[in-house]
Amino acid sequence: MLYLDFAASSPLIPSVKEILIKTLDEEFANPSSAHRLGRDSSEKIEQVRETIADSLGAYKSEIIFTSGASESNNLAIKGYVLANKHKGKHIITSLIEHKCILAICHFLEKEYGYEITYISPKKNGIIDAQDVIDAMREDTVLVSIMHVNNELGSIQPIELIGKACFDKNIKFHVDAAQSYKKIAIDVDNLNIDMLSISAHKIYGPKGIGALYIRDLRETRIQPVIHGAGQEYGLRGGTLATPLILGFGAAVADDTIERNLDNIKKLNSFFRSKVTENGGIINSPNSDYIPHILNIRFPSFDASQFVANSDFICSQGSACSSMNIEISYVLREIGLNFDEGNQSIRVSLAHEITQNQLQEFIKNLKKGA
Ligand SMILES: Cc1ncc(COP(=O)(O)O)c(C=O)c1O
Repeated sequence: MLYLDFAASSPLIPSVKEILIKTLDEEFANPSSAHRLGRDSSEKIEQVRETIADSLGAYKSEIIFTSGASESNNLAIKGYVLANKHKGKHIITSLIEHKCILAICHFLEKEYGYEITYISPKKNGIIDAQDVIDAMREDTVLVSIMHVNNELGSIQPIELIGKACFDKNIKFHVDAAQSYKKIAIDVDNLNIDMLSISAHKIYGPKGIGALYIRDLRETRIQPVIHGAGQEYGLRGGTLATPLILGFGAAVADDTIERNLDNIKKLNSFFRSKVTENGGIINSPNSDYIPHILNIRFPSFDASQFVANSDFICSQGSACSSMNIEISYVLREIGLNFDEGNQSIRVSLAHEITQNQLQEFIKNLKKGA
């Protein structure tokens, strides 16, 4: 079996596994408790908060722990806009955001009467910053654009969008689930006001993530989970000490950064082999992270392959009851139904070798 689905979720690296096992055993006290054990856990949690803040150029007081990027996105978007209705009810996002962002926007449209402008990507899966700027209005309260698209690996022009949001005094949220640690992020340089990250995309445990909120204490945010005052009153519930410490170990580890060049080489190798063998690259030719590559082969049955192969990768399409729909991301970049069904997303990591990719291509060809 060869795992090629690291963008969906990654295994644990040894340093994370070690700390998880140790802390599941030892860190059982409630970190909100006033006794010594509680205070010890709380101190360790605060160190992780600082590690995450440092990795983003933020302050420790601007980081909230959540269960992952989906929850962070919910807290950022619903939390901000519902607490700031008086500022306007217009939001700008894109048509290729992660499903959770689209679901949050549909909810706000339906239940609260927000007006959402959904920006279409260009054919290469990249949003034109000017389209976002042109959509900005007096009543725009929030812009939410992902950093890297999870199906294509395309990098969005968040620096340009951030600058325009800053100039127009509009809050800017970025879903960085796929870019964190793969592209250096400085929230000040990029004018990002809120940023979502997730541990299980960076060799950390599942069920833990974080949201950065600029000037958190001065920003009006409505909690999504009401609780007993944890996380500045924004996210109730006892903090998951082992998961947070595991997250901290994943953030502190430099495996991803150290292997960037290796993965670039793997990506180029794979691209050339795909095209040599009659395949087509759906991902863009520039402005992409090398970790994600979306490809297709004429007459390839991606759903059969994904369901039955020992090569573990993912297909953009979703099966809902009797209907097979192609991925909305692939549809938005202009692929038709057949092309969508011939497409798979491969996500790479340093564990993968060129020989393994060569073998993978052979198997893909068999399915074509
Ligand atoms: C871009 C993006 N946003 C959000 C998520 C959701 O992350 P989580 O599983 O941590 O909720 C994912 C995961 O696939 C993602 O790729």
